[in-house]
Amino acid sequence: MLGRVNHIAIAVPDLGIATTMYRDTLGARVSQAQALPEHGVTVVFVELPNTKVELLEPLGPESPIAAFLEKNPSGGMHHICYEVDDIVAARDTLKAAGARVLGDGNPKTGAHGKPVLFLHPKDFNGTLIELEQV
Ligand code: CO
Repeated sequence: MLGRVNHIAIAVPDLGIATTMYRDTLGARVSQAQALPEHGVTVVFVELPNTKVELLEPLGPESPIAAFLEKNPSGGMHHICYEVDDIVAARDTLKAAGARVLGDGNPKTGAHGKPVLFLHPKDFNGTLIELEQV
């Protein structure tokens, strides 16, 4: 079911500071900031030779990242995104195995314009997992 790691996401308290760190200090290529109101986040992608790092900043009062940053004020690793060929087939297999899909269970459009789903961290060793159909 799983393909490549598409990205690793880090929640950050200040996207401007984090962008400067990755671009100027770490010397990585960093995308423009992109607001994703449907997901309650603003994102920046750090482009690495073998994968991407997604920096997430809360957007709006209902942001799912806000509570995470309250517990982790300096930021922290938030989720890992794996690629799948067929997100609906993956979801159905996982649900049949007892895994919980977050939200209403239907894929949403992610930062790359492709369908994504999130899986409950308690079912995956404490790690929030995003699946992206590529
Ligand atoms: Co992500």
